Order: sequence, then structure tokens, then C-alpha cells
Amino acid sequence: MTNFTLKNGVLYAENLALSQIAAEFNTPCYVYSQAALTQAFTSFKAGLVGTNHLVCFAVKANPNIAILNVFAKLGAGFDIVSGGELARVLAAGGDPQKIVFSGVGKSVEEMRGALNAGIFCFNVESASELTRLNEVAKSMNKIAPVSLRVNPNVDAKTHPYISTGLKNNKFGVAFDDAISVYETAAAMPNIAVHGVDCHIGSQITELAPFIEALDLILGLVDQLETKGIHISHIDVGGGIGITYADETPPEFTAYAKAILAKINARNVKLLFEPGRALVGNAGVLVTKVEYLKASSKDSEAKNFAIVDAAMNDLMRPALYDAYHDIQAVSPRIGAAVTYEIVGPVCESGDFLGHDRTLNLAEGDLLAIMSAGAYGMSMASNYNTRGRAIEIMVDGDECHVIRQREKITDLFALESLLP
Ligand code: LLP
Repeated sequence: MTNFTLKNGVLYAENLALSQIAAEFNTPCYVYSQAALTQAFTSFKAGLVGTNHLVCFAVKANPNIAILNVFAKLGAGFDIVSGGELARVLAAGGDPQKIVFSGVGKSVEEMRGALNAGIFCFNVESASELTRLNEVAKSMNKIAPVSLRVNPNVDAKTHPYISTGLKNNKFGVAFDDAISVYETAAAMPNIAVHGVDCHIGSQITELAPFIEALDLILGLVDQLETKGIHISHIDVGGGIGITYADETPPEFTAYAKAILAKINARNVKLLFEPGRALVGNAGVLVTKVEYLKASSKDSEAKNFAIVDAAMNDLMRPALYDAYHDIQAVSPRIGAAVTYEIVGPVCESGDFLGHDRTLNLAEGDLLAIMSAGAYGMSMASNYNTRGRAIEIMVDGDECHVIRQREKITDLFALESLLP
């Protein structure tokens, strides 16, 4: 089910033509479908009906406060990794008691902020972090609710940059040290052990790694119980992949069923931290073809379509060699040519797609598909390019949810020397 479909020869977001949106708001432009966000969240929860659970949207995938607000209204919790993300969730009307705080490098200030807000749980990633959190909580006369993020050493079979559950990754407490760190935590006066957490990676397209990790976690929970340490929630992290090209990630219901089968009759609350799966296919990046050119006149020449979006708008192709489908907003009939779709940034790594067969003319609009996750959230101002405008479509209405950055915004915090 997609909310971006061709109608009468034009690509639409819900009931609005992307060409109309581009004419009004210019390009490059991120366009999201509110219905797609809602559908993704509701179908994620469908397999969990009747269970004690909390779905915490991983804010890093797309932190726009309008998007967070859509999820907050649907009852979502949030997985944050910084004080900045905490502030966004609160500004978006998120419930602090549904926030989990992940990340390997929480500062004292971030811990204070989260303790003041009264978050649900800190996902602690090292013994040193635990010691610091205990001290910070003590200084505030508070008790910090804690899960340890354990690293189960499971291969998520995904891109190495987004694999996080292998023992040589920087994340979590080593599985073999988990019991002793839990014992330390249980003895700390300003720490309350609540849960166990694990997140093995992102864009995972098979069930097996999730289950392998969960088996290890459940074994740990049982061992902890024998030591008198009771675990009341299990956070299985995020990581479910989406279809960018021909990947076939597990359906949400199959994923939920497999996890619930393992949890069986255990009396624990289940937490999930999906990011990409809730927003990835709910957004596209609309861009305009500025120029068409060939690299040379010989038979090995490459054809380039130079568009007005670049690696600073969508970094995934340059960073991970990630594939995003690229569609013409108003597809032309006739002979197509194979293009390198590239941006204006001064790097050969600035490409959005290789070898795309399209029939293009200068001025045409293209939609970079599946750009709702880790698109705008990883955008930068490289080459002093203002970040794109973001638009939310809801039926036949649309709303600006982030204005296009003005050039003067980009150096407003800088100063000339006296
Ligand atoms: N929980 C934790 C602790 C995480 O580190 C992440 C993502 C998530 C949840 C959400 O994972 P998801 O459900 O979205 O897979 N920039 C990369 C993805 C980096 C993911 C980092 N951690 C990309 O564009 O593919």
C-alpha cells in the first residue's frame, strides 16, 4: 500500500499532485503523507493488540515536530538519543513517561534534562554511564529508571555502518559482562533496574537475527531472576527494514507474532523502537532536473541528469551506496536514456542514483522515493545549501511543516573578526 501513486499521468501524494506542490513551494522539497504515517503506526500495532506494549518511534529517523505530533496523538512513545530530541518530543506534545533514552554518550546535562522530564527509562550502554547516571540522579534526589542495552553479538546482516549488535560495535554492554553490570546497577542507591534493551541494527530484512537476539535476551532475563534482579520490560529495539527496491522485510504482524511466541506467558511489557519502518515509505524528495549532459562523445559516455537536490539533502546514497527508486513526477512517453542522477555539490560522491532509465527533459520533476527516514534528519548545509522545505499532505490539503532555510540563516551564527 503506497500513498504515492500515478493518477492521470502525474505522481500524487494522497490527493495532491507533486507537480502542484512543487509549483507552489519550489524544489527540492520533502513531501510526506500523513495517511502513510498513520497506516504504518497502526499496522505496526495491529499484531500487538491485547499485549502490554509500547511502540517508541525512533526520533532520529525523522524528528520534524509535526511528524512526532502525528505519532504522539496516536499514542506513541519515543526513543531519543539526545537532549535535543527530548526537547523536540516535548514540543510535539509527546508524553515524557513514554520516552526511552538510548545512546552511548549521554552527557550530565542530558541526564539531568531527562530526569527532570520524568522519562520512562534510560537505556544505559556502559558501566561508566551507569556510575554517572547514579551520581546525577543522587544530586537531584531522584531515582533513575534503567535498562541495560546489551550487545548480543548477533549479525543483523545489514550494511556495516548500520549494524550495531556485533561485539566489535561501540554499542551496549558486552553480553558476557551483562550480569555483573546488572548486579552493580541493582546495588546503586539512585538506580532502579527496570528492563533490558537491545538493538542489533537497521534495515534488517529477515526475522532470524531478531529472534536470535531475543533468545539470548530471554536467557539473560532468566539468569537475572535467579539473582533476584527482576526485569519488568524488554525493549527489542528497532531495525525492521522497508522495501526500497526488491527487499522483502518481514510483515509487521509476522514480526510481532514471532516475538510474542518467544515471550509466551512471561509477565513483561514489550517495547519497540521502530524508526525507518514507520516513516521511510511515507516521504519522498521532489527535485527538478536542472541540466542534462553527457560526459563525453564516446560510446562509454555517461549521461548525467543534474538535479537541484544533492547529497546534502539526502545523504544515504553517498554514505551507504543506498538505493532509492527515482520516478518521474510526470512520466514522458518515448525513448528512455540511462542516467546518473547527480546533484550540484562539488564531489563525485554526490549522486542520488546510478543507471536510471528515464525519459527526461530539463525542467522535469523527479521524486526520490522512500526518503521519509534518515533523509531530512541527516541533511546538512554542505556547499552552503539551505535545507529543503518539508510539506505534509493530508488528503487534498497540505501544510508547510518546515520552511526552506534562507541563505542568511546559514551564516547567522557566524561573526566577522573584530
Ligand atoms: N533504536 C536505536 C537504539 C537505534 O540506534 C536506532 C537506529 C533505532 C532504534 C531505529 O532503527 P530503525 O528502526 O530505523 O532501523 N542512517 C541510517 C540508519 C541509522 C540507524 C541508527 N539507529 C540509514 O539511513 O540507513
